[in-house]
Amino acid sequence: MDSSGPAPEPLDRTPTPEEQQAAAAHLERAQRDAAQSHRIPDGVTGTEVESAGVVGFGTMGRGIALSFAAAGIPVAVFEESDEAWIRGEAAVAGSLSRAVGRSKIDEAEAERRLRRIRRAGGFEDFGVADFIVEAVFEDLSVKQEVFAQLDEVAEPGAVLATNTSSLDVNAIASATRRPEAVVGTHFFSPAHVMRLLEVVVGAATSAETLATAISLGLRLGKAPVPVGVCDGFVGNRMLFAYRRQADQLLLEGALPEQIDGALQRFGFRMGPFAVADLAGLDIGGAVRQRLAAEAAARGETPPKPVVADRLCERGRLGQKTGAGFYRYEPGNRTPLPDPEVAEIVRRESAAQGIDRRPVEDREILERCLFALVNGGAEILGEGIAEREGDVDVIWALGYGFPRERGGPMHWARHLGLSEVVSSLDRLAAATGDARLEPSRGLLELAVR
Ligand SMILES: NC(=O)c1ccc[n+]([C@@H]2O[C@H](COP(=O)([O-])OP(=O)(O)OC[C@H]3O[C@@H](n4cnc5c(N)ncnc54)[C@H](O)[C@@H]3O)[C@@H](O)[C@H]2O)c1
Repeated sequence: MDSSGPAPEPLDRTPTPEEQQAAAAHLERAQRDAAQSHRIPDGVTGTEVESAGVVGFGTMGRGIALSFAAAGIPVAVFEESDEAWIRGEAAVAGSLSRAVGRSKIDEAEAERRLRRIRRAGGFEDFGVADFIVEAVFEDLSVKQEVFAQLDEVAEPGAVLATNTSSLDVNAIASATRRPEAVVGTHFFSPAHVMRLLEVVVGAATSAETLATAISLGLRLGKAPVPVGVCDGFVGNRMLFAYRRQADQLLLEGALPEQIDGALQRFGFRMGPFAVADLAGLDIGGAVRQRLAAEAAARGETPPKPVVADRLCERGRLGQKTGAGFYRYEPGNRTPLPDPEVAEIVRRESAAQGIDRRPVEDREILERCLFALVNGGAEILGEGIAEREGDVDVIWALGYGFPRERGGPMHWARHLGLSEVVSSLDRLAAATGDARLEPSRGLLELAVR
């Protein structure tokens, strides 16, 4: 990479106390603003939720049910598998008793919360619920089937919400005769702990439905942020842009521990590969397979494999299998660099005809972070996100962007958007990667 000219300021410079204060104030204001969606006309208010439903008692359904219970809202849960129900009950009880152990709540409150969660015998038990969240498998036809059934039983005026993290909310809504009552509520894992709530507004979602989802989110103690429909919504779509650079840097010469280390020094609690190991590599693998199939259906060349594909082929799915981008000692979540991964990475570089080279930490930060900012600006340009602050809230609360830097857009503004644009121009030219070219949204923001 070209390193001529005066040495630029390090991107991971620790923010001054004044900068940190300004970042905190920005995030606080942005959270308040996000709940005032431009999509809700004056005078439109939501309805107060008195009784809720959840479909699916897996990882997310449990956390969502716990959130309702903590807010004093009774919740009926329909789970088709007895085994999953039993596991879910034990997980919910365990979570409440840990909260008692840490003196967050007392025994009586834990008992009240537990009693607010009851098992529904079937969809017909949702007749009284005025807000139903679907959290079944990430499969469009399964979700459409659930929504068709909910449409049959739910009261008029009830909101039907999906917790999908990547599917088309409009396609899910189309399984009902009331698409205006369908909205995405994208909770983050663990759903009873994480504050971010992306509220996904479909093409037909009414302002009343959106207002109800936002006010419910606030009542659950969440930070609701309205977003539009697109692949990955706001948070995950930006994550794809960020991860694509990290994946490419692996092939060009870096190793997971170098990339994660550079981003941790910037302030992320975990780097992208440690996060991938925590979430499970099969999740991203399934998304990549779907995107490849969609590209093939459009007659486009599918994207090249990434290192994660090779790891999945070997059953290295992350922490849950004891190995992914790192290896793990039994009972210990500390990621340990693994020479076997280094070998897999080197082999994949060779297979793709890439000559590996030393990669500097600055290049890692520039490519990952500027791609992130570029993606955020693109989404703003498309109107999928309403405000720069919304993007910042999503990344600070849901993806571990260092809060002391105020979120990616706040950080980039502080650095200077014209500086980001010229760096992206330089990086796109040096790498030949068109995805690093400044997006129209970024160019528009930079001149404003
Ligand atoms: N796990 C995460 O980190 C995460 C984060 C955000 C969003 N999501 C999304 O949340 C949804 C649920 O994910 P999860 O991780 O909880 O999945 P999971 O596999 O842990 O749980 C899904 C549950 O739904 C049940 N189920 C399936 N079909 C059903 C039906 N027709 N009726 C009733 N129950 C049914 C299953 O038995 C299972 O218990 C998915 O759409 C996923 O993409 C997951």
